[in-house]
Amino acid sequence: MTRTWRIGVAGLGTVGAGLLSFLAEKDGFAPQGGKAVVTGVSARSRSRPRPFDISGLPWFDDPVALAASPDIDIFVELVGGSDGPAKAAVEAALKAGKPVITANKALIAVHGAALAGLAEAQGVPLLFEAAVMGGTPAVKVVRESLVGEEIHSVAGILNGTCNYILSAMESSGRSFEEVLAEAQRLGYAESDPTMDVGGFDAAHKISILAALAFGCAPSFAAAEIEGIDQVALLDIQMAKDLGYRIKLIASAERSDAGVLVRVHPTLVALNHPLAQTGGVLNAMFIEGSRIGRIFIQGPGAGAGPTAAAVAADIADVMTGAQRPVFQRPALELKPFTPVDPARSTSRAYLRFLVKDEPGVIAAVSETLAEAGVSIESFLQKPVDGSDGVPIVLTTHAVAESVLTAAIDRIADLSSVLDRPRLMRIARS
Ligand SMILES: NC(=O)c1ccc[n+]([C@@H]2O[C@H](COP(=O)([O-])OP(=O)(O)OC[C@H]3O[C@@H](n4cnc5c(N)ncnc54)[C@H](OP(=O)(O)O)[C@@H]3O)[C@@H](O)[C@H]2O)c1
Repeated sequence: MTRTWRIGVAGLGTVGAGLLSFLAEKDGFAPQGGKAVVTGVSARSRSRPRPFDISGLPWFDDPVALAASPDIDIFVELVGGSDGPAKAAVEAALKAGKPVITANKALIAVHGAALAGLAEAQGVPLLFEAAVMGGTPAVKVVRESLVGEEIHSVAGILNGTCNYILSAMESSGRSFEEVLAEAQRLGYAESDPTMDVGGFDAAHKISILAALAFGCAPSFAAAEIEGIDQVALLDIQMAKDLGYRIKLIASAERSDAGVLVRVHPTLVALNHPLAQTGGVLNAMFIEGSRIGRIFIQGPGAGAGPTAAAVAADIADVMTGAQRPVFQRPALELKPFTPVDPARSTSRAYLRFLVKDEPGVIAAVSETLAEAGVSIESFLQKPVDGSDGVPIVLTTHAVAESVLTAAIDRIADLSSVLDRPRLMRIARS
């Protein structure tokens, strides 16, 4: 007999509306021998116009009351935020022994280990496929399909807003500020864009992927984060002249020293699949001992794709599949040992402004050579109306500690007018 699963949905914004529209279109959702029926909803404003009719659905002013209601079997949290009502409601649902599905990467990145402990103690699933790469399978791929693999690294483009902004800056030749304003008008960026352009959203997602890939507790606080707000149009143009495209790359790498989780603007060779991931798309590489490299690309946000990911989690609850929330039981989860970024090695891009006078290039080259940094290529591009001449250098692979010491010395040269801007260059 088909079991009816009563679903409580807290949050009726982009994703919540997408989920309710999806379930209405499907007249419930009946995969895997079960049928999903919404039996309670909660949002901030009951009277706010919605793209679907909620008048027939039981309304809860408080998402915590919905989470604990005896009239629901599965609680779906689509409110957002690492703390506040989202956390309180998820905890209430788990304590009441209800399976929880969430799209909330901030919540899982910050409180994932504690919530996993609660879920596993109660013997109920805590699922979050939609939290990483929206509608593109990422969480289940790492947690389930690759559970037998020894994963070395996960890296990719995990924030569609930043990718849209960088792509539009390149294609239209407009500044970060102009493109951000357009993205806000089009609904691709929030009115407060800090979470996205500051790199925090991508850091939440890569923290979750690191935990799933390496079997450790998510540790958002250990992530090194730099956003795209300091990427100048000049950098995008100079990078292109050198054969690269700038992308906000989130990466998690495991070595004998520990795990390095970081988000930063990165130069990616133009023929690299990540360089060809444009607009709001997301993409990631997973590298492991046996699989070599896997590449996944697809929609990272939006009502339809994200609702489909939430629906897939609902189907998983219906099947009764029970596995650890992360790669191993919550009681065994430990925070990873963070690797000091200064010890990491990569090729680098340096851009700075110099006085237009003889001997400058020689002085910069000598300073870099003395510091142990080897130059790979060099580009000089006069810019109309500028007080100096922008110079770009790329280096051979160098330890970050060596590079930052060299940058300090270059910044002190009397012929250098600003502090060199550093970006890393991705491996091909
Ligand atoms: N948007 C995407 O494409 C996407 C993709 C992947 C993951 N996510 C994640 O999905 C979650 C929801 O995102 P969203 O874009 O749908 O957000 P959203 O459009 O801002 O919607 C948030 C919803 O939460 C409700 N809400 C806010 N505070 C509340 C409170 N105190 N009590 C009850 N309800 C409250 C809001 O109510 P009102 O409607 O009454 O204001 C709104 O319905 C977030 O965790 C986000 O990170 C989003």
